[in-house]
Amino acid sequence: MSLSAPTLHTDRLRLRPFNESDADALFALHSNAHVLRYWDAPPWSERKRAERFIAACREIEEAGTGTRLAVERVSDGVFIGWCSLNRWNPDYRSASMGYCFDDGVWGHGYATEAARSLLQWAFNTLDVNRVQAETDTRNTASARVLEKLGFVREGKLREDCVVNGEVSDSWVYGLIRREWQP
Ligand SMILES: CC(C)(COP(=O)(O)OP(=O)(O)OC[C@H]1O[C@@H](n2cnc3c(N)ncnc32)[C@H](O)[C@@H]1OP(=O)(O)O)[C@@H](O)C(=O)NCCC(=O)NCCS
Repeated sequence: MSLSAPTLHTDRLRLRPFNESDADALFALHSNAHVLRYWDAPPWSERKRAERFIAACREIEEAGTGTRLAVERVSDGVFIGWCSLNRWNPDYRSASMGYCFDDGVWGHGYATEAARSLLQWAFNTLDVNRVQAETDTRNTASARVLEKLGFVREGKLREDCVVNGEVSDSWVYGLIRREWQP
């Protein structure tokens, strides 16, 4: 069953399906080593990666396993990052969440605002019961975003990833529907 990517509005942001014209901004984001310092994959060095990412967004939706949305600021229409809900399992009513934002806009609450709206969509439209997120244990900002959203730290995945050649641990966070406060 395919999923159609929603367009979601918050006070300051618009979350919308990716299109080809996002490729340059997406490449700039994912080729930034500072942004990706806790990411489980190295920064991109080829623009083609951005085109593949955008094509993969449609594949994810066609497969019905989730959605990955571009996030733009309403005030100036600038692309500032993305937010995703993936690994949707309708039988278990579970899914996972991910996000990545440009370091020029960190600290303004944008990631929390975008993720909150995507979670609301997931609880309302997909009727999920549980959303999971994982983050490098050094990624304090990401852990804080999850905790602001009501996620509970459930455990540690020891030596889960190799980030820039360094073996790293991840926190597992979970948000259960009955704990969700829109
Ligand atoms: C993690 C990320 C999404 C946060 O985006 P953001 O828009 O800055 O997030 P918000 O402003 O909504 O919230 C960030 C919170 O972390 C806090 N924070 C930021 N850096 C911190 C640090 N080094 N130590 C402690 N807290 C920190 C901020 O103060 C804020 O909390 P507050 O509202 O209580 O003050 C952003 O840093 C990012 O995209 N990083 C790169 C990609 C990434 O790591 N994605 C997550 C992979 S799991």
